Amino acid sequence: MSAAPAEPSTDLSTVFLDRIRAIVGASNLKEGQAIANLDYGVAAGNFGATAVVLPASTEEVAAIVNAGTKYGVSIVTHGGRTGLVGGGLSSPGQLVLSTARLNRIVGLSSIERVAVVEAGVTLQSLQAAAAEHRLEPGIDLPSRGSATIGGMVSTNAGGITAFRHGVMRHRVLGMEIVLPDGSVYSDLTRVAKNSAGYDLKHLFIGAEGTLGVVTRIAVKLEPMPAATATVIFGLPSVEAALDITRLGFDVRFGHLRAAEAIWNSYFQLTAGHHRWWAADYDPNHPINLLISLGGAGEEQLQAELERIYELVIEKYPEISAVVATTQAQEEELWRLREDTDLIYRKHPAAPSYDVSVPLSEIDAYVSRCLVELNSIAPRLDPYIFGHLADGNLHIVLNAASAEMTPEETAAVETVLYRDLAAVGGSFSAEHGIGSKRVHSLRDTANPVKLALMKRIKGTVDAADLLNPGKVIE
Ligand code: LAC
Ligand code: ZN
Repeated sequence: MSAAPAEPSTDLSTVFLDRIRAIVGASNLKEGQAIANLDYGVAAGNFGATAVVLPASTEEVAAIVNAGTKYGVSIVTHGGRTGLVGGGLSSPGQLVLSTARLNRIVGLSSIERVAVVEAGVTLQSLQAAAAEHRLEPGIDLPSRGSATIGGMVSTNAGGITAFRHGVMRHRVLGMEIVLPDGSVYSDLTRVAKNSAGYDLKHLFIGAEGTLGVVTRIAVKLEPMPAATATVIFGLPSVEAALDITRLGFDVRFGHLRAAEAIWNSYFQLTAGHHRWWAADYDPNHPINLLISLGGAGEEQLQAELERIYELVIEKYPEISAVVATTQAQEEELWRLREDTDLIYRKHPAAPSYDVSVPLSEIDAYVSRCLVELNSIAPRLDPYIFGHLADGNLHIVLNAASAEMTPEETAAVETVLYRDLAAVGGSFSAEHGIGSKRVHSLRDTANPVKLALMKRIKGTVDAADLLNPGKVIE
């Protein structure tokens, strides 16, 4: 008879903590009240761990991971802590490894159009550094101020410009990763073409810290347009929004930078809060669409927007439109789309879903979900918004998570996830699996894929010490 497996320890041994302190220095190991002084981000449970360590180099990360393996301590790596699926939750007996001090931009070449950054660099800092060279990272998200490049790699983040420049996976040329045994897999390739064997970086992109700790990333950059122009349309239907998106794809001058959809209830929330109104803009359209163009000159871009408007109003005479003519107005329009905090302030931890739907299926999908969610409970009346040009919709319930019964949550998931794979979509678009979506992945993934994922995890992290319980059980 074999003995029952030992319960994981809920404490960290003095010898282990001494070892970690010796690696990073006493001030970079936080315990107790010192943890409480740090920002836990979107969930207090991110700091369930006994201690938080803040290494400042790859060597320190490797030594920490090595010590974790030696003493059997599991490690939860943290970036900006604003992920929405509980990927950063930790518990007593675990060590949180924060990348906050891995915040250097190691290099940036304007001729190569590549930046090499440490994992804790925020998207906003990379954007600012790239902008000095009239470049941009080719990826942008509302959480740019908190999201770190390491976190974005680990969740394979997507955002606003994915329809044009791809998701994080397509932005990364090279990576440096500390493996569970403390060895460093360094492949900071800075070129687009590299077919030297298995492209292993992709295994770690989207792995949410379960296979290794990402320490450095070589990120592709894109030219930044000299001018942008932004308009918001109030529209009668998804069909109208897709018609405009198509016209945006086809502009003769410049290019489409963003096509962000804002369904009515979310528009009411953000426009109401920010007291946004315009004389000719009817705030009651079923859907609103924020369109941004980029190009060499503002006048031509405004002319393109004008042309789109003329074409659309012929087909849909009841539309509204407001063009931003100053940068301040452009920012006001973006706030209508990006101020998602308003939802969470109203409803703490409101259940949020992040699905991908092929564009031609969006109308039917949203209509079906609204009817079926209403039949679960009319109060759930969801806020819907998202990245229309790639079909990524965010659906956030008009309820705090504490108000949801387990039966309601299960019913909501069935409604939102049913048939998504069959129509070529995905139940998890850009926020990842974390801990919240583990059961949904388990229930919906192809069994061969799931088995292969487990074999990979078992091979790379046999002792299950890196972010255990996340992504796969
Ligand atoms: C956004 C985040 C929620 O697009 O993905 O606002
Ligand atoms: Zn998003």
